[in-house]
Amino acid sequence: MADWYPADLTHMEPSMEVTPVDLTSQRPGPSVQDVLATDVNPAPAVMRSESPAANQADTDLAIERYFSKDWHNREVVNVWRKCWQMACRVEEIPNVGDHVVYDIVHDSLIVVRTGPDEIRAYINSCLHRGTMLRTSGGCVQRLRCPFHGWTWKLDGTLLHIPQQWDLPHVDPATTSLPEAKVGTWGGYVFVNFDLECEPLASYLENLPEHFASFDLENRYKAAHVAKIMPCNWKLAMEAFVEAYHVAVAHPQVLAYYGDSNTQYDVWPGVRHVSRMISVQGVPSPSMRGIPAERTVEEMRRDVPFFAGEPIEVAEGETARAKLALRARQKISRSTQLDMSSLSDTESLDLIEYMLFPNMVPWGGQALPITYRFRPNGDDPESSIMEIMFLFSKSPDGSHPAPATMTMLGPDERWADAPELGSAAMVADQDTDNLMRIQRGLRTSRKPGVTLARYQESRIRHFHSTLDAYMGLGERSTEGAGQ
Ligand code: FES
Ligand SMILES: [Fe+2]
Repeated sequence: MADWYPADLTHMEPSMEVTPVDLTSQRPGPSVQDVLATDVNPAPAVMRSESPAANQADTDLAIERYFSKDWHNREVVNVWRKCWQMACRVEEIPNVGDHVVYDIVHDSLIVVRTGPDEIRAYINSCLHRGTMLRTSGGCVQRLRCPFHGWTWKLDGTLLHIPQQWDLPHVDPATTSLPEAKVGTWGGYVFVNFDLECEPLASYLENLPEHFASFDLENRYKAAHVAKIMPCNWKLAMEAFVEAYHVAVAHPQVLAYYGDSNTQYDVWPGVRHVSRMISVQGVPSPSMRGIPAERTVEEMRRDVPFFAGEPIEVAEGETARAKLALRARQKISRSTQLDMSSLSDTESLDLIEYMLFPNMVPWGGQALPITYRFRPNGDDPESSIMEIMFLFSKSPDGSHPAPATMTMLGPDERWADAPELGSAAMVADQDTDNLMRIQRGLRTSRKPGVTLARYQESRIRHFHSTLDAYMGLGERSTEGAGQ
């Protein structure tokens, strides 16, 4: 296709020199840091700095990585069988024998609590003739294959082979279930198929430090909704890690959402983590000068969290301060904790991190969201997107039963899951676009996608890390000219 696409517009050739640019000076104000500096309750220290990406290439990304089966197959080997990935929440498996099944492309794991302080992950395949041992979660005290009844203890050692006289060549001592690595952080259970992988603690890089005040450990999964998305898993994720599209795709939020002044952070030497912060309760720079009442009313219109008593903004007050105050009152009531000192940013803002390859946990208390994006089985052109809400546990640590996953049907929209509240409308707008993006890339005669230098720097960072796992150079031109 590059045969006829004008070569000078493809941007596929990496220039040898990457000119360092700092475009943050051209970003419209006020900056996130300007807003945080005037907040009533100050932001945590990790929020008071910024780290715009430096020395990123400006080359296009080859579009094959969004639909090629060959690329997908290599992702299985180099990403899904090499990287730590979130499998479930700890509170989903509180008792010994509780388990979930975690599926990723061809692979399946039984993630099971094997002791009060021990969780293991077993390859979900019988060592007789390969039958999946479990197809869904639950609680069992042994793992028994439904075909001929071979049975393992929870510690993975073989318990029983029916009619063992006929299998004298099978040594029970070497017939334990193979395992994957397991680690936990922030109340999440992570798994890794690579037994030689780097420890989870180092893989997480600066994430634990940044989440220290967000306390995900003391939350529980209050909602969990999934949908098959009509696009590659990376396309789905990329639509949720930049705010460049907000003005056009979600114009309803502009009276209360800082889109074009969003802060994007990619830290030097950090491979797996990036961040964006969008302030709320202030208008988009494109709506500068609108009355504070409009900011308050439109935020209340879209976010039921702010419903109830009217919010008056008096002379000398700001919409942001009044909305943050209301948010703190609501969060205090729902958590039964005194949250009056919670920072304005944790009360209101979109504080979103990404953990390579496919987890997008949000910080703060305002939007207690985690996204996860996975290929839909072996299909590179569809994916499973999940939205989870993590609410705080009661002060005594108790909490309602964690939500089980609701899978939306092909004709259902995110808005058909009322538990998602105002997040659903935004996700539906993105889903409509994602179908167009996948189809549009298939018909494109341009061999690469073009990325903005600053606002799409997290996508660039993600692909740079992806390239490294795929064994490619930092700036791959794979697919160019094909
Ligand atoms: S396949 Fe599992 S016992 Fe036969
Ligand atoms: Fe969006």
